[in-house]
Amino acid sequence: MKLRVDQGRAEKYPCELVLLFSFDSPQDWEGPIRRIDAEWKGFLSDLMKEGDFKGELCQCELLYTHGALPAKRVLLAGLGKKEEFDLEKWRGASAKAGSYIRDSGLKQFVFPITKMGDFSEDQLADAFVTGLMLGVYQFKELKTLGRDKFKEIEEGIVLGETAEETKSIRDGLRWGKTISEEVCIARDLVNSPGNKVTPTVLAEKARQISKEHRMEVQVLEVSEAEALGMGAFVAVAKGSQEPAKFITLEYNKGKAYNTIALVGKGITFDSGGLSLKPSDGMHRMKDDMSGAAAVLAVMEAAARMALPLHLVGIIPATENLPSGKAYKPGDVLKTLSGQTVEVISTDAEGRLVLADALAYSLRYKPDAILDIATLTGACVIALGDYVSGIMGNDEGLLKRVEEASQKTGERVWRLPLWDEYFDYLKSDTADFKNVGTRAGGTIIGGIFLSKFVEKTPWVHVDIAGPAHIEKERPYIPRGGTGVGVRLLFQLLRDWTC
Ligand code: BES
Ligand code: ZN
Ligand code: ZN
Repeated sequence: MKLRVDQGRAEKYPCELVLLFSFDSPQDWEGPIRRIDAEWKGFLSDLMKEGDFKGELCQCELLYTHGALPAKRVLLAGLGKKEEFDLEKWRGASAKAGSYIRDSGLKQFVFPITKMGDFSEDQLADAFVTGLMLGVYQFKELKTLGRDKFKEIEEGIVLGETAEETKSIRDGLRWGKTISEEVCIARDLVNSPGNKVTPTVLAEKARQISKEHRMEVQVLEVSEAEALGMGAFVAVAKGSQEPAKFITLEYNKGKAYNTIALVGKGITFDSGGLSLKPSDGMHRMKDDMSGAAAVLAVMEAAARMALPLHLVGIIPATENLPSGKAYKPGDVLKTLSGQTVEVISTDAEGRLVLADALAYSLRYKPDAILDIATLTGACVIALGDYVSGIMGNDEGLLKRVEEASQKTGERVWRLPLWDEYFDYLKSDTADFKNVGTRAGGTIIGGIFLSKFVEKTPWVHVDIAGPAHIEKERPYIPRGGTGVGVRLLFQLLRDWTC
């Protein structure tokens, strides 16, 4: 779908369809909808008066204009109650309208944007394209049958009336479009199966990003990681035939900006290793690289929007498989930090690869570290499918994540990292174990990671729940969600504000 901005008036604009939004109260109508209604001899207000269109949130009504307007059709889309309006509802309503247009087989729409609530045109344009693009996302790459059934909108035109308005819309659209394209890239990576997205493919993606956006890239082979002392990462990689890669992308290297490290869990398939997972639902573990996908997407988005930050994206990428060479429960590993870990379960592999990646990130002397990982099933039990768990050692950084969450609608909830929890990880043979109890599993995962960041401000985002959803949400279709991309990007965008 091509999206562009134009200056003009919707009641004078010839097109396939004009998209108009309305709250449930027509007396508030202003601007384009009011003028179109007048041009149409009160047809739209009659529809509301008679109750044919109630303006309920996400209600859509397709109307033919029969020559009353230069546009062939109008899509009336509901926004619900004015006093309940916010950007999250707006993203949802935009997604519903977009899906409606697409599913009707229409190829073009024009949307005259107007101020609503307390939001500026650029905020509304940003959230409109975000809802729209993320709502109409579909993953069809690997389908060979029925490809023609996938409909697509070809062109969306967002209209502003004045030059000043148009400029502001263009700006909002650019931010929204860039970040949404990156969310879709992350979704594609997550939806692609383990036999397509291997550690090598993640490394190639990082190389491609580095080339296109003049970033530094480093891809360490297992032998190099071993020579550096990454005993935990290397242990997880041992059971697999597919070569593991330890990937680092660096943006704005050497510039005098704040340094932020983004660390993403990149397990391209998690079978559990010798502590094998039950086969029911094991196929879902192709999404165990959702953190890595988010880091790649955020790095690219940051470069495309020229954020004034020095960013280091770190991705320990490997499969976790059982074999005669695989690491075993009871093994003791020496991590890059020098600390030793007793393996209780080879299925708690995420924290092992992250331990080395977090310790490695300290070499860049970051002002902050954020890690993002599908780390624990316990997080899904605690918070459900829609919410990420956050834990950290720095109040200010946690607050920044929460603020970004409020702005993006990507929900997070804080869990504590009190010292008492560390008792669960005490080991007889090593500095600590990689598993505590089932109870408090997410926090124990967080406590484990906290041992590898020293005193650097750090937040861990456990996305095990929302990385993948079974039931679609207003602007998130079923499958890989790309969760964390908008959250982390918003945090970076606001960093210096
Ligand atoms: N990748 C899983 C976590 C996961 C589970 C993500 C379900 C998404 C949905 C992780 O590597 C894992 O297996 N964690 C174990 C940890 C346990 C052994 C302490 C878990 O959650 O059971
Ligand atoms: Zn696991
Ligand atoms: Zn895992």
